[in-house]
This record gives sequence, C-alpha cells and structure tokens, in this order.
Amino acid sequence: MPYPPWTSVDDAARLLQDGQVVAIPTETVYGLAGNAYNPDALAKIFAAKERPTFDPLIVHIADIAQLQDVAQDIPDAAYRLAEAYWPGPMTLVLPKKDCIPDLCTSGLPSVAVRFPSHPVAQEIIKKSGLPLAAPSANLFKHVSPTTAMHVAEQLSDRIAGIVDGGPCQVGVESAIVSLLGEIPTILRPGAITAEMVEKVLGKVKLGISSSKPGQPMTAPGQCDTHYRPQVPLYYGPITKDIQLPPRTARIAFGNTEGVVPETVNLSKTGDLVEATAKLYALMHELDKPEYDLILVDPIPDSGLGMALNDRLKRASIKHLP
Ligand code: TXA
Ligand code: MG
Repeated sequence: MPYPPWTSVDDAARLLQDGQVVAIPTETVYGLAGNAYNPDALAKIFAAKERPTFDPLIVHIADIAQLQDVAQDIPDAAYRLAEAYWPGPMTLVLPKKDCIPDLCTSGLPSVAVRFPSHPVAQEIIKKSGLPLAAPSANLFKHVSPTTAMHVAEQLSDRIAGIVDGGPCQVGVESAIVSLLGEIPTILRPGAITAEMVEKVLGKVKLGISSSKPGQPMTAPGQCDTHYRPQVPLYYGPITKDIQLPPRTARIAFGNTEGVVPETVNLSKTGDLVEATAKLYALMHELDKPEYDLILVDPIPDSGLGMALNDRLKRASIKHLP
C-alpha cells in the first residue's frame, strides 16, 4: 500500500476549495468529498472510485439553512424531518437547484442532501465554505470504509487527502428518504428507521429497488453485487447437512449455535446498534485469502436490523458454492 495521504482539517478544506477530492469521516461511513458545485471535482470522485456516472452522489451540508443552497421548493416535511434527525444519518431527496451540476445527480432533477453529525465532517464543510458531494470512500461495489485505514487500503494513491476522524459510530450508510412524491419513500434503510420517519410525518412507504439499464439509479445499491467483499459472503438459510469449505469464517450474531464455530461476533448480546457499528469492520477483517467463505448469522429484519439485512442481502452470493 502506498503511504496514505493523511491530511489535517485545514489542509482538507483548502484542497476541497482547490477542486481536489479528500476522504472525510462521517458518523455513518467515510465519504470521498469534493466541491458539489464543481464538475471537475465531481468527475474526480467518480474516477477515483471507478463508479459509473449513472449512480448519483449525496451532497453534505453543515447547517439546515444551507439546504436552500442546493435544493428548491423544499416541502415543510423536509424541515420537520431535519429538525428531528439532523445532524444525523438521514439523507433527504428534494428538487435540486440549478447550481448543482447534472453530474452530481446523474441528470436527475432531484438532489440527495445530508447534514452529518460527525464534528470533523462539520468542521471541514464549514471551513471549505462549500456543500460537499461525497459517496462512500471505497471502490465501486466494495465494502464501505468505517475507519481511515479502510480508506487508505483502497484509495491511497488515487486521492489528495484522507482525514482520520476515528472509527464511524453508526457503521452503515444513511437512510435515504425521498420527499418528491405524495408519500415519503424510504429508498435505503438506515439508522433513522422507517418507524422514526413515520413518527414525524405519518405514513411512509418503502421504495422498490428496480432500475432500467441505462437510466439513473433512483434507489441505491441497485447493482445486485453492491457491498461485496472479495471472499464470497453468504447470508441466507443453511441446513445442518450442508458441505462447507474447510476455511469458512462465521460472523455470528448473539448467543446462537451455527453450523461452524463462530469466528467473530457482531454482538454477543444481540444488540443491533453494536452489530451495525461492527458489520463493515468485520467484513473487512475477514476479507483475507485465508478464508474461502464468510457465513453470516440471521439478523432480525425490523428497525435498525432492516439496514443490516439490506446490506447483507446485496453482499451475499445467491447460492452456496
Ligand atoms: O451515509 C452516507 O450516506 C454516506 C456518507 C459518506 O455520507 N454516503 C453514501 O453515499 O452512502 P453513496 O454514494 O454510497 O450512496 C449514495 C446513494 C446512491 O446509491 C444513489 O442511488 C442515492 O444515494 N441517491 C443520490 N442522489 C439521489 C437522488 N437524486 N435520488 C435518489 N437517490 C439518490
Ligand atoms: Mg457506497
């Protein structure tokens, strides 16, 4: 690995003003940030990640008032959700302002906006004086980074800087809520759960992940192979008589028996917050040549568990080898 371009908050702000891309910590996952108004900076983000330009970026702000710099015709519902859950792991999809380049939104008339709670992210946004477009700071389709070292392993020689803000406390990407239609739609489950959004806005619906080839993705992770480690990961039902490779690692959840001994545990007490914070770090840890398969125990599919199930289903191979 090339020596990582570790960077201070002040240098990061200057690099961002200069149109460079810099990895920054947030409470969900590390983001690869660039000036959201600058198409050259946006192009550098897509290039560094090898991300197709039909997958739009999330714009990060550091003040609710800054929403007006990037979005327009903002409904009251957006302010109610913002008051309740910003700063925090929730992204709102709203009609975009013209100053946001098409490259940022993959040509969509809407923009995804988030006000992160991580103090270092807020400082960088404020010091740069810019809204920052930032996808997760990993190569396209790979596991998202929850430490600065995860970023360094994948992107060191491709980006201008990495700011180390410690391990991410939430551990999975933000919940994405579209406020474009009559009924608010959860496009990606996250730590702000559907129930939490319902509490503020009343009824919500869950988005359908279907996209047509060649069209911009309006719900994330529509690529079936999103979030995948290099070592095949399997998340699904298994029977006791199944033949598994001898070098199978098991990510356990709670105090459960599995077909192989547990290698690591997401949370011995079955705590979903702890499990979410650890999931990507454990996926990175087991993504090593000494393993042929990673098995993950079933996790309850409600509340915060919905975010884990969403990511694990996409990370999983469809059938056991
Ligand atoms: O927690 C997070 O959201 C992290 C941190 C860095 O903030 N960022 C993140 O970005 O997860 P990314 O690029 O991995 O996910 C962005 C997703 C895309 O998959 C895209 O489909 C969706 O947000 N998105 C962006 N703009 C959208 C829009 N206008 N309408 C619908 N979905 C949009
Ligand atoms: Mg991502």
